[in-house]
Amino acid sequence: MNSSAPLYEGKAKKVFATENPAEYIVQYKDDATAFNAQKRGEWAGKGATNNAITAHLFPLLEAAGIPTHFIEQLSDTEQRVKAVTIVPVEVIVRNIAAGSFSKRLGVEEGEKLSRPVVEYCYKSDALGDPLINTDTALALGWASEEDLTRIRELALKVRDFLVPYFEKRGVTLVDFKLEFGKLPGGEIVLADEISPDTCRFWDAQTGEKLDKDRFRRDLGGEAEAYAEMLRRVTSEV
Ligand SMILES: Nc1ncnc2c1ncn2[C@@H]1O[C@H](COP(=O)(O)OP(=O)(O)OP(=O)(O)O)[C@@H](O)[C@H]1O
Ligand SMILES: [Mg+2]
Repeated sequence: MNSSAPLYEGKAKKVFATENPAEYIVQYKDDATAFNAQKRGEWAGKGATNNAITAHLFPLLEAAGIPTHFIEQLSDTEQRVKAVTIVPVEVIVRNIAAGSFSKRLGVEEGEKLSRPVVEYCYKSDALGDPLINTDTALALGWASEEDLTRIRELALKVRDFLVPYFEKRGVTLVDFKLEFGKLPGGEIVLADEISPDTCRFWDAQTGEKLDKDRFRRDLGGEAEAYAEMLRRVTSEV
């Protein structure tokens, strides 16, 4: 479908312009990276599972009152989205201590947090997405106070939808990373993806990891874990 060069090629996706300047096509790749692309791999079907999981969840979030960039799934690996200006702040929402949070604060992985924690990182591959706070984003002009208030509100709304959604499907949502963008009119919308690349999913019964930590930590079985997450996400309960 896309013979032209992408506007942007990231580690996990390519973004293509369309005949309509207000829309992009996102193509999900089979490549996997971790630790700011120091570790690289790939497996067949990764792009398709992430595309399908995101394409399933975004309309549900939209229906729950969270505006998103998603328009439609086009194929196994492609979706049509609204073109946005990405706010260069990655938003992490944590329910349970894990990963960099555990390391930074000496909190054991798996400890339940008494309330959700919203963290912000500067979206910069060159700098390794460093942790910032909202003052940093304001002082450096990355977002307005109004934008940041809305982003936090939407991020927590996403959490409030996803936690019970996954719980019903036997999955504990440990933490997740979101990206937001701005439409030309100034509206903040949820962009990018929600997938095992961007969330920590633990099987509620066994604690088994069903996300990118399988790849990051050389646990093996990543393709099976992503396929299992697609099955759970799309299962009627
Ligand atoms: N609706 C959208 N409009 C414009 N850009 C988008 C949209 N949705 C996602 N993007 C951007 O497209 C890119 C997707 O590529 P990918 O996820 O592979 O990037 P990445 O390697 O994670 O790197 P980075 O996110 O740091 O640029 C990201 O930069 C993301 O911010
Ligand atoms: Mg990405």
